[in-house]
Amino acid sequence: MEELKGTKPKISWPKKALLILGFLFALAVIALVAMAVTQNKPLPKNIKYGIVLDAGSSHTNLYVYEWPAEKENDTGVVHQVEVCKVEGLGISGYSQDPEKAGLSLQHCMKKAQEVVPEQQHLETPLYLGATAGMRLLSLENRSVAEKVLSAVEKTLRSFPFNFQGARIISGQEEGAYGWITINYLLGNFKQSGWLNFLPNLKSRSGTSGALDLGGASTQITFVPDQEPIESDDNSLHFRLYGKSYNVYTHSFLCYGKDQALRLKLACDVQSTQNGSLLDPCFHQGYLRIMNVSELYTNPCTAEGEQQLPFTQLQIRGNGDHQKCRMNIQKIFNNSHCPYSSCSFNGIFLPPIQGEFGGQSGLADVHGRWAFLAHDGVYHFSRGVGNPGTCTEAGT
Ligand SMILES: *[C@@H]1O[C@H](CO)[C@@H](O)[C@H](O)[C@H]1NC(C)=O
Ligand SMILES: *[C@@H]1O[C@H](CO)[C@@H](O)[C@H](O)[C@H]1NC(C)=O
Ligand SMILES: *[C@@H]1O[C@H](CO)[C@@H](O)[C@H](O)[C@H]1NC(C)=O
Ligand SMILES: *[C@@H]1O[C@H](CO)[C@@H](O)[C@H](O)[C@H]1NC(C)=O
Repeated sequence: MEELKGTKPKISWPKKALLILGFLFALAVIALVAMAVTQNKPLPKNIKYGIVLDAGSSHTNLYVYEWPAEKENDTGVVHQVEVCKVEGLGISGYSQDPEKAGLSLQHCMKKAQEVVPEQQHLETPLYLGATAGMRLLSLENRSVAEKVLSAVEKTLRSFPFNFQGARIISGQEEGAYGWITINYLLGNFKQSGWLNFLPNLKSRSGTSGALDLGGASTQITFVPDQEPIESDDNSLHFRLYGKSYNVYTHSFLCYGKDQALRLKLACDVQSTQNGSLLDPCFHQGYLRIMNVSELYTNPCTAEGEQQLPFTQLQIRGNGDHQKCRMNIQKIFNNSHCPYSSCSFNGIFLPPIQGEFGGQSGLADVHGRWAFLAHDGVYHFSRGVGNPGTCTEAGT
């Protein structure tokens, strides 16, 4: 630059500034091109990322999402770019050794670190939401549940993301996220489109219901035709993409796949004298030996705890689906209903309406959490379902 001054003293300031600017600009372009070529990378796109850990009762999944920043508020733009299944137990399974709950997440967190471009780590939000496994642990021993969550938090904070919190979500929230996920995936929130002119495939609200079978709880969520929703605990209101929805939801704690089987077992045990059980719900040849002490370790079955004259249970399958059907009825109490209609255990259920989408613990939910951060104002009330004791049906 000094040379420029010396050799062409007559250049007036504005021209000189232009020259210098032009030179700098050329340099910048060359630098950019060189960078792009040497690193063999496309020029940066304006993409945002989000990381969500879905901490279920039997396992945890980590999801990485991306969406174009300028279309943040549009439908149909969030994509899942990575799913990582955490090895080992669900976080609630580490109650004996909470530190391990945190350590178990490290592998998947490292994966997320690779997937999200480094320069965006600091701005990438990271959430963990725990469901019924942790709800149960928290009911059983709150301080242990808090230890598990803080171990998890410690691990998550050690990564360079924008950590937004690790918490136990309520059954209502879980129901709501499941319903949002299904309707988002079906494109039901889009305001226009030829699908809307099809005959009434869905309910009046233009949405589908959601059924979600987890390990420790199960959710049913839909927009009922019948108004009002008779129980406040089962009623959600939110706005999505400019439209209001009144949604019915219920989360049956203890009626996920694993816990429901325990409920059934706790009922079955009452009819054995020696600890040997024939279970029509398992195939012939199935054999499981279980310590009686294991049976009553959580709030689902603790209430019905009994002194039994044996310490081990021997469960043998005899595969009979008719008997199994009758047998499983024992965990549903239909004897009382304080509302106009109920599902079971005195829980309000309006008439079933429209199509339902299913989500299960096995084919686990994509994007259940995609909307934790944006879209919608949620108002939730807390409430825990009350597992029934054994009813007489089928015995
Ligand atoms: C998305 O919506 C929020 C809230 O309505 C608004 O503040 C934000 O600017 C919007 N973003 C874009 C990219 O339109
Ligand atoms: C909860 O667990 C802690 C640690 O294991 C134990 O010290 C405490 O007694 C437990 N509390 C209850 C209410 O069981
Ligand atoms: C049952 O309890 C005994 C002693 O408490 C233990 O050694 C054994 O591993 C337990 N069995 C199972 C299946 O958990
Ligand atoms: C069913 O629930 C009602 C109300 O809680 C209770 O009084 C009744 O004992 C229950 N029935 C059985 C068989 O547990």
